Order: sequence, then structure tokens, then C-alpha cells
Amino acid sequence: MTALTLSTSAAPGLRADAIVIGVAKGAKGPVVAPGAEAVDKAYDGKLAGVLETLGASGAEGELTKLPAPAGFKSALVIAVGLGTVPDDGTGYGAEALRRAAGVAARTLNGAKKAAFALPVEDAAAVGAIAEGVLLGAYSFDVYKDNGSSAKAKADKAPLAEATLLGGKPRDAAHKAALARATAVSEELNRARDLINTPPNDLTPAAFAAIAQRAAKEHGLKVQVLDDKALAKDGYGGILGVGGGSAATPRLVKLSYTSPGADKHLAFVGKGITYDSGGISLKPAGHNETMKCDMSGAAAVFAAVVSAARLGLEVNVTGWLALAENMPSGSAVRPGDVLRMYSGKTVEVLNTDAEGRLVLADALWAASAENPDAIVDVATLTGAMMLALGSRTFGIMANDDAFRTAIHEAAEEVGEPAWPMPLPEHLRKGMDSPTADIANMGERMGGGLVAGLFLREFVGEGITWAHLDIAGPAFNEGGAFGYTPKGGTGSAVRTLVRLAELTAEGDLG
Ligand code: BES
Ligand code: MN
Ligand code: ZN
Repeated sequence: MTALTLSTSAAPGLRADAIVIGVAKGAKGPVVAPGAEAVDKAYDGKLAGVLETLGASGAEGELTKLPAPAGFKSALVIAVGLGTVPDDGTGYGAEALRRAAGVAARTLNGAKKAAFALPVEDAAAVGAIAEGVLLGAYSFDVYKDNGSSAKAKADKAPLAEATLLGGKPRDAAHKAALARATAVSEELNRARDLINTPPNDLTPAAFAAIAQRAAKEHGLKVQVLDDKALAKDGYGGILGVGGGSAATPRLVKLSYTSPGADKHLAFVGKGITYDSGGISLKPAGHNETMKCDMSGAAAVFAAVVSAARLGLEVNVTGWLALAENMPSGSAVRPGDVLRMYSGKTVEVLNTDAEGRLVLADALWAASAENPDAIVDVATLTGAMMLALGSRTFGIMANDDAFRTAIHEAAEEVGEPAWPMPLPEHLRKGMDSPTADIANMGERMGGGLVAGLFLREFVGEGITWAHLDIAGPAFNEGGAFGYTPKGGTGSAVRTLVRLAELTAEGDLG
């Protein structure tokens, strides 16, 4: 990952491949953003005009390259769009900075060193720019270029070094913001790696082994239940879903405990390492990206490790419900009844509604510890993508205030999210003539039906929320802002923020 430093040096004397500056959209054309004064001065104060001549407007995501002025030690200036100038001429929002830094960092893949001269007003800006750089520079090429030259590989490698100008290396708040951004971005990028890893390599056992290694490294407690242990304890949901695959399922429990904590959060992640649909097989066109179906577990994993690295004063337990959903002679059939870990029976009407089955067992296991709140994260339904599109996750909860708090936390960290209801009338669609409940209900409102199903497996009186990240978990389009193609790491930053708020006593 890119190495970041803070520096108060002036842009002209910096030896780098490029200097990144901000340009915003003003009423009468592009405006050079604060932070780039030295660069503007070297252009005789006419940089805005130069940029306009080159076609720049300052729109978000826009990128303009120009030769650095004479006397500069870098060859290139990269002007990146920040969107509309804020009313007061300063106060560029964290998300605008994060996105702009991300766009610039991505175009700098292959470069050795860049200086970022974006507007830095406070420590929050330092954190946002750092996150933008670290997340935007991400690339996944483990499986690429086999046999190609070292040079070809280096051309695509993430930006090696970045200096954030205006960030004060001796300011405690600036340093803390940089350290936080580094820890969270590193773990988030690791979640992206897990999501992008093909399912023939990332089996439930492989994922569990990675969690065990990370636990050792960061002083977490870890417990892995394999198929035999799951059978002994009666985890019928996870075993049912995983039963069709030669790669057997796992339930991983990762615990971070802080000596100063008086609150306990449980995060539960859907970890379907591949979702073929099972006997209710998905048609071609719907299964090519289904390695992403463990994105919830990846997010939970990253959030727990982040909480540990940040030393938050809150206990956080992560539950990874890992299974591969495959059709075979030992697979669960439509019509089968599973006895779940909670003791409830479920009639499986569609084996492609598997996420709720593994989550149900993990939610019940998490409930047994009576945490202050449980948040599950899952690529659960295509219906949620139809409702909210591919960049926004849905939030459902059994507590309105908790749902609102999560929505606000998501907004604060720059993750688009939206509250969704759990309409009671949809419950009866899951009535089963044979079992306590069926794993499918009405087609309309399918994302909410899934939420209602999960609610039945949350322990009595426990505050719970469900994040359906089916849309934003995996970016099938082109990269934008600091979001790459492929696995995005959706929900990691919201979960980390929730843990921070809980530690600070600002939540529940
Ligand atoms: N993993 C899918 C949901 C999904 C679809 C995630 C597209 C990301 C992109 C989930 O297991 C699934 O198949 N859900 C079904 C449920 C239905 C059978 C009730 C769906 O949404 O079609
Ligand atoms: Mn499915
Ligand atoms: Zn699935």
C-alpha cells in the first residue's frame, strides 16, 4: 500500500512525479482550491485561466494534467475536480476531498512519489485525503500478468509514496487522523482482496485460516467451528447451505476485547464464498460475480481488526458465517426442512435464498452473548439492488433510533445508505405448512422479506440492524472516486464508525 507522510514543505522544492492540486467549479469558471497557492503563483496567478483553456471546469472526478511551471522539481501538475465551490470559499467537505484524492491516486498507479496539495483545513481533511489516496490507489493484480516483465508489473503497481502537503507532522490531531486512515484503509483494502480472490482459492476453510492468522497478529481471540463442530452443536442453517459443496462450511468468531470497555457490539457477516444458487441454480449471466457473496463477512472481518488496531474502548465480536452454495447430491433441496441453531425449523423453498439461512444461525449464536447491539452485513437480495441501485445499501432494524444512528454514521464516513422498513404484513408470506417459517415469501419487497426473516433469529430484546449491501459491495462498472472496479469494501467504514461512536458513549 502507498506510504503516506505529512509535510509542511512548499510544493516547488518537492521532488516528486506529480503535484496534485484541487480545482473547483465556480460561478464564472474553474477556481483553484486552497493548498495550491504556490503552484498558482508560479503560473503568475493565472492557473485558473490556464485550466479553463485546457477545458477544466472543476467538476467532481475531472482530471487535468499540465506541465509543472519552471523551477519546480516535479514534472507534472495534476488538477483534480472538487465539485462546486463551497459557499464560504473554503470548507471543502470530507467526501469531496476523499473522492478527488482517490481519482488522482488511481491515475498515479505506477508512479513512485506524488505530493497532494489539496485544501487542508483541519485534521478531518487530513484523514479524508489520506483515505482517498490509500483507497484510490488500490489495485488487485495477484492473478494478472503471469510471466510478463517486472517493468509491466511496476507500471500498474499502486503509487508508492504520497506526501500530504499542509498536513502537520508534529500536530497530534493530524497524526492521529493519518494513523486512523492508514489502519482502516489497510484493512478495507484487505477486505477488497478477499472479495476479489476467486472462489476456487477463497474457500470457507481458506477464509477461516486467514482470520486465524490475523487474530494472532492483532491479539484477537478466534474460534473456528468446522463442519463436524457445527453438526455437533446443531447449526442446521450453515450446514444445510454448505452441504452441497466439497469445500465444507465454517463459523468463525473473532473477539476483540478492550480492558476499558463497558459496551459490546456484535457484527455478523454473510460469507458465501460462492453463490451458484444451489439446486435452484442461478442462470448464466447471474453467477459470474458471485464470488462477491462473502463481502459482508469480509467487511465484518476488516471492521473487527480495525477496532483492534485503533484500540477502541469497546468490545467487538465478529461472526463470519462461511459456506459455499453449490448443487450436488448432498445439497439441500427445495422442500427440505432444516432445524436451525435456534431450534426453529425452516422449509427451504429456494436454495438461492441461502444467505438468510447462514445468517440466522450466526445471529442466534451472537445473541447468546447478549451484546448491546448486533449489526449484520450481507449481499442478501437482488431486490435491494433494484430498490436502491448499485451504490447505496439498505438499513433495516428492530429499533428506529438505531437505524437512524447507523444511517448518520454511514453518511459521516461517505457511504451512501438509506433506511428501509420491515412491514409486518410481509411476514405471513413466509408461513410454511410444514415448518415454523419458509425461507422465501412474497416477491415484492424481497429485500424487506429477507430482513423480516432475519429478525426472527435475533435474541429477545436485543437491538439489531441489517445492512443489505448487495448493490454497493461489488462494482461491476468502471472505477470512480476512490472506489475501484470489483470488491469495494462497502460497510467497513460504517462499522468502524459505529464502534467508535459506541466507544465514545455516543450510541445506545
Ligand atoms: N447473493 C444473492 C443476492 C445478490 C444478487 C447479491 C445480486 C449481489 C448481487 C442472494 O443469495 C440471492 O440469490 N437472493 C435471491 C433471493 C430470492 C431467491 C428470494 C434474490 O435476490 O434473487
Ligand atoms: Mn443466493
Ligand atoms: Zn447469496
